[in-house]
Amino acid sequence: MNASAVNVTLDEIAALAKRRGFIFPSSEIYGGIGGFFDYGPLGSILKRNVKNAWWREIVELRDDVVGFDSSIVMHPNTWVASGHVAVFHDKLVDCRNCKHRFRADHLASLAKCPNCGMTGTLTEPRDFNLMMSTRVGPAEDSASLAYLRPETAQGMFVNFKNVYQSSRKRPPFGIAQIGKSFRNEITPGNFTFRQREFEQAELEYFVPDDGHDLETYERWVAERTRWYSNYGVRADRLRACELTAAERPHYAKAGTDVEYLFPWGWGELESIAHRGTYDLDAHMKLSGKDLRYFDEAAKTHFTPILIESSAGMDRTTLTMLIDAYDLETIASEDGKTSQRVVLRFHPKIAPVQVGVFPLARNKPDLVERARGIERALRPHARTQYDEGNVGQLYRRQDEIGTPYCVMVDFQTLDDGAVTVRDRDSMRQERVGESALRGWLAERL
Ligand code: GAP
Repeated sequence: MNASAVNVTLDEIAALAKRRGFIFPSSEIYGGIGGFFDYGPLGSILKRNVKNAWWREIVELRDDVVGFDSSIVMHPNTWVASGHVAVFHDKLVDCRNCKHRFRADHLASLAKCPNCGMTGTLTEPRDFNLMMSTRVGPAEDSASLAYLRPETAQGMFVNFKNVYQSSRKRPPFGIAQIGKSFRNEITPGNFTFRQREFEQAELEYFVPDDGHDLETYERWVAERTRWYSNYGVRADRLRACELTAAERPHYAKAGTDVEYLFPWGWGELESIAHRGTYDLDAHMKLSGKDLRYFDEAAKTHFTPILIESSAGMDRTTLTMLIDAYDLETIASEDGKTSQRVVLRFHPKIAPVQVGVFPLARNKPDLVERARGIERALRPHARTQYDEGNVGQLYRRQDEIGTPYCVMVDFQTLDDGAVTVRDRDSMRQERVGESALRGWLAERL
């Protein structure tokens, strides 16, 4: 399958995201700022659901992983030890004519500027460090220089000893966190795919060197790939690509990228890597502190091997939007056809799970009943009350991906039953008001 098979363009997704309140360009009234985005009322819930689904599976449903939340600004030596100060670079090329900047590896040739078309105006590629810097405290000297973390992982490495001692865990065990990371990308783009501020969900899983490390790595590759499928991501748009020795860092014994087929082609959602003891060794060397695990029973120290899974929460949220998108042609009973946009979100991911409406907004009995039903369902599902033209109500809920809509009509006042419409099949079913909560719980 290739990108032409994806049934929606990025422009269509960006327009829908803005129209329905999923994602807006940051500080748009001032013209926006490249590589930064804001999540609207529905987008913030969608992203939270994605993060909760990750956290639930990685932390809450396991007894061998503990949660963590480290600071964004860390001691600058963290980034010296990790190698980010020395090698976290992209090659940058400037056009002397139009002042546009490019990543050298994104250019077919250095002969001609792809923006202004002038030949001979591109500079030689030079290293550009992707870390964003800031100043800590009132002094403006070099000692105050600090960085916004480009990954959340290092916070977990430098705290390895604090965590295993306080939580009484012994390898194999993992530390997990979700948080913001910052990279001064030369060319942010493809909507929220490549941003300068983004959120990562990272799992650092430490194992003893007992010969089972590759097995554990393979288990995580399988588990993490399955996670996307569990939330409905289409199988033909998902793949796990094993990295060759040339593609991965010299210290990594194995690596796999989980990729999704975006409208412009395959793109990385997550990287899973066998990193050996590289990270803990580097921090021990620079800090002079012993981060090895002390095995009480054997009275020996050892440095555990690290298996890392690092997923982008903005890329996963974007994937959920693109993957759920469908433009469906529907035929009515009189033979006429029309089209509807529907987001077929997994019910656990959908920002609104149940829409509740009265058949007519000017009938107080219906309005009161519908509001009461929505209020009663609210503690048990993500609900939304709305009123207006029935066709438009369904159209709006389809476009935001609401799996079920509950309609309160005149018959409800007589028999206490409501009409429930299924987003995907558009089939309608009468359900007694007293059975409604259970009916929905079974399906959500
Ligand atoms: N600690 C390992 C690490 O950070 P990475 O492959 O550089 O690995 C992991 O990043 C994930 O973070 C990526 O697979 C991607 O989903 C997300 N990510 C990285 N850079 C990003 C960016 N500029 N915008 C949005 N997401 C990004």
